[in-house]
Amino acid sequence: MPDSSNEVPVITLDGPGGSGKGTISMRLARELGWNFLDSGALYRLVALAAMNRGIEPNNETALAELATGLDVSFPMQGEDMQYLLDGEDVSEALRSEAVSAFSSRVASLPQVRKALVARQRAFRTAPGLVADGRDMGTVIFPDAGLKIFLTASVEERAQRRYKQLKEKGESVNLSRLFRDIEKRDERDRTRKVAPLVPAEDAVTIDSTRLSIDEVMAAIHDLI
Ligand code: DC
Repeated sequence: MPDSSNEVPVITLDGPGGSGKGTISMRLARELGWNFLDSGALYRLVALAAMNRGIEPNNETALAELATGLDVSFPMQGEDMQYLLDGEDVSEALRSEAVSAFSSRVASLPQVRKALVARQRAFRTAPGLVADGRDMGTVIFPDAGLKIFLTASVEERAQRRYKQLKEKGESVNLSRLFRDIEKRDERDRTRKVAPLVPAEDAVTIDSTRLSIDEVMAAIHDLI
């Protein structure tokens, strides 16, 4: 990593999906006036682009090529981030269960992960960066000043996801969501490259029984 970027402070938030990381890290970035990296969105965008092009989830070479050349941008629209793929707003499509499942497979491929490293580090610009993901503190920004690992029980995360999908009008089955989350967790935790584990110097916060405000307060204490 170039020396100049090391001077830009980074806070990493890693943890499983549904732990509240997305909401918390976005809010933290806004409060600090820092940049925000939603690294999961990059894996989701590769997945969506692959699905659109009919690329199979095990075609590592084609997926890595796709990841390298991906035309994506994340403009802010008011309080929300917009996700553009080839200039088209795909914010809704990115959050479907089909994209979630495909992206978890894509994220287990070493060549794809490698193809996305430089793109992620490029988000580290002044005045600072809040980086949300699975390997932000372990692989992408190992020198981050503050590393947080946010967790919650599988039950709680399935409930949160269930509520979210219901609100969007998607038909969902809670026990199936529970099983899908368990399966994805297992794959994320046991993959060979950049598995989902806390960095040695990360502080773990369990959000199962905490509100968003309570998690924010805990993080501000750490800062
Ligand atoms: O956080 P998310 O649900 O949007 O992430 C989508 C997928 O990408 C999920 O399976 C975990 C994976 N991921 C990863 O492997 N590394 C990251 N830094 C971020 C996400």
